[in-house]
Amino acid sequence: MTDANIMKKNAGYYAAELVEDGMIVGLGTGSTVFFAMEKLSSMINGGLDIVGVPTSYQAMRRAREYGIPLGTLDDYPTLDLAIDGADQIDPKLRMIKGRGAAQTMEKCVCDAADSFIVVSDPSKLSDRLDAVVPVEVIPFACSTMMETVRKLGGVPVVREGVKKDGPVITDSGNFEIDCSFGIIKDPESLESRLNNIPGVLSCGLFTQYSSKTRVVIGKKNDVEVI
Ligand code: 5RP
Repeated sequence: MTDANIMKKNAGYYAAELVEDGMIVGLGTGSTVFFAMEKLSSMINGGLDIVGVPTSYQAMRRAREYGIPLGTLDDYPTLDLAIDGADQIDPKLRMIKGRGAAQTMEKCVCDAADSFIVVSDPSKLSDRLDAVVPVEVIPFACSTMMETVRKLGGVPVVREGVKKDGPVITDSGNFEIDCSFGIIKDPESLESRLNNIPGVLSCGLFTQYSSKTRVVIGKKNDVEVI
């Protein structure tokens, strides 16, 4: 296993061990949270009784493979905790998510959870937010949304699949627009301005959840919890 995967595994396994019997658990999307699912799977085999609420088709498929009992936000409008990854995390625990184009459902699940556990390797920590901000938009509004992003000082690019044969389509049937802003001086304001563009479902900035967030940083031999 690569060093990066060892660190992700240590973070994921630590987060899984925070899960207690009877909990309803949000299951995020991405390679780090999949390690948490792997650990949850062995805990379930040992008798742990939980229900997972997946944040994407990919997470749902992986959770099923691991034998994690699943429900939806309709079944469980409030969750005990959610475990998810991140693409960039600042010292105030504000973050950018959405490399997996799943930030809309991830944000719904995070919002519904009493506690948000973010699993990561050290490379995601940054003293400022300057990564690309993914924004999910309905196809009808894509061009006007991109114009508005330019007026906000951003550079929007429609995300394409690996074969470059068309836009990535999210689980909800929309486009994912990757928006570069350089250093984001006021992440709260940018999040709210992006979310207010007509046709936008949600952006990958998560600035409102710091007070219920714990970040588990996997290292080679241990973890650091922030
Ligand atoms: C998906 C996400 C992921 O949580 C984020 O991209 C981190 O993924 P990984 O753990 O594979 O680095 O936001 O929309």
